[in-house]
Amino acid sequence: MFRSPAVPRVRKRSRPAESAVPGRQEVKFEDVRLYLVERKMGSSRRSFLTQLARSKGFIVDDTLSDVVTHVVSEDSQASSLWTWLKGRALKNLPAMHVLDISWFTDSMKEGRPVAVETRHLIQDALPKMTPPTPVARISQYACQRRTTTENNNKIFTDAFEVLAETYEFNEIEGPCLAFRRAASVLKSLPWAVRCLGATEDLPCLGEHSKAVMEEILQHGQSFEVEKILSDERYQTLKLFTSVFGVGPKTAEKWYRRGMRSFSDVLTEPDVRLNRMQQTGFLHYGDISRAVSKPEARALGNIIDEAVHAITSDAIVALTGGFRRGKEFGHDVDFIVSTPQEGKEEGLLTAVIGRLKHQGIVLYCDYQASTFDISKLPSHRFEAMDHFAKCFLILRLEDSQVEGGLSRAEGDRRSWRAVRVDLVSPPMDRYAFTLLGWTGSRQFERDLRRYARMERRMLLDNHALYDKTKKEFLAATTEKDIFAHLGLEYIEPWQRNA
Ligand code: UTP
Ligand code: MN
Repeated sequence: MFRSPAVPRVRKRSRPAESAVPGRQEVKFEDVRLYLVERKMGSSRRSFLTQLARSKGFIVDDTLSDVVTHVVSEDSQASSLWTWLKGRALKNLPAMHVLDISWFTDSMKEGRPVAVETRHLIQDALPKMTPPTPVARISQYACQRRTTTENNNKIFTDAFEVLAETYEFNEIEGPCLAFRRAASVLKSLPWAVRCLGATEDLPCLGEHSKAVMEEILQHGQSFEVEKILSDERYQTLKLFTSVFGVGPKTAEKWYRRGMRSFSDVLTEPDVRLNRMQQTGFLHYGDISRAVSKPEARALGNIIDEAVHAITSDAIVALTGGFRRGKEFGHDVDFIVSTPQEGKEEGLLTAVIGRLKHQGIVLYCDYQASTFDISKLPSHRFEAMDHFAKCFLILRLEDSQVEGGLSRAEGDRRSWRAVRVDLVSPPMDRYAFTLLGWTGSRQFERDLRRYARMERRMLLDNHALYDKTKKEFLAATTEKDIFAHLGLEYIEPWQRNA
């Protein structure tokens, strides 16, 4: 049915007869409203293109009004088009996409509105009377922002992280997520916020976030954050969860039983540490210290050598924070796979066997694959993936690292312990795994949210499912996935959201 609750009634009356809809057509893209400019296009071509778009589920308005989202024109003379548009007395013109016909043809080809890219835009070249406004509105979705490792707003984002963390410790999800989103928006800015006025057009910044920012701008710190930082419960939970294998639940339990320090935990007769926690305490100094890029590279060589000693056609890909160009990480993440179907899991166990034989495995938590294609798509948002994987602690020698290990001052040891994660998807799942494990966590969350909310699609580390078409969308590269989602491609080093 050709329905659209957002359209004022009067507009139906004014629809000219020449573009009346033959039969009823289903609207697939509710939030996109096209208007085709007749100038230069001609009325017969305009009516042909209108029919075409409507047959593909697009809404095409016959009159130009403030509800239109996408204006499409074949007029290559930007200045005359803009003069005409500005004469229409539209309030919403600044928010409309004014597009060249190439956006329309691309969208018809794809059967859905493709993401607006710079090449599609018909820019208004005339000097504006009003002061320059930001070129493009910043999206509420991290997957539509480019975020490098350079953070110009660390004073604010560090504060937001403390607030998010304390809400997380108290299991209050809403504000926790809100502060993470706010931090993520600030991280994407190529400039530092110097006054509250500068945040006016930014998405995801609520009253609370702005109040914290105002305090920091005025006093150099937030009293709310300072209070949390000096809170005994916060400090203790933060300390306990810094141990490998200790989550918020365990930390809370220990805190409630009166423990405040590691020695409290280690001398308490009732505390039973599991193997992961024992290892966590044993190698605490090493694994709580950041891993450097040269150390990550050295581990890459070790994994690469082990994998290729087993099969020559195997692939090893660095993923996680180091793929995003970070200088330091809490671990190093790799994808290991083989084009030989069904052999990827065996490859992973063989790699672990080889590393063990070399005597460098200090800890290994191997999780067999529970991947079952028939169980897709997963409706569990942010669920763990089902591929074979292992969480390792490896022994890295000083001699293996270019420039040597990053050591604490006075440390004379010739090795350190490092956390390494390996995941082993079947080759046809490779692109989804690479995208999912590259992160950042916030970038992934927003990719999934965007897919769900804006595209009626479900994305996880295994697959992409189109709920409208009721089918899986295949991908061999990350670019394929961005294209399916109608998103501009974001390079790994721009995903530090
Ligand atoms: P990490 O926790 O390793 O984070 O997960 P990171 O971005 O590399 O940062 P640091 O430097 O190590 O702290 C990397 C990505 O892998 C995903 C996470 O969601 C994150 O986006 N991941 C991790 C999974 O999808 N599944 C897992 O089992 C583990
Ligand atoms: Mn990592």
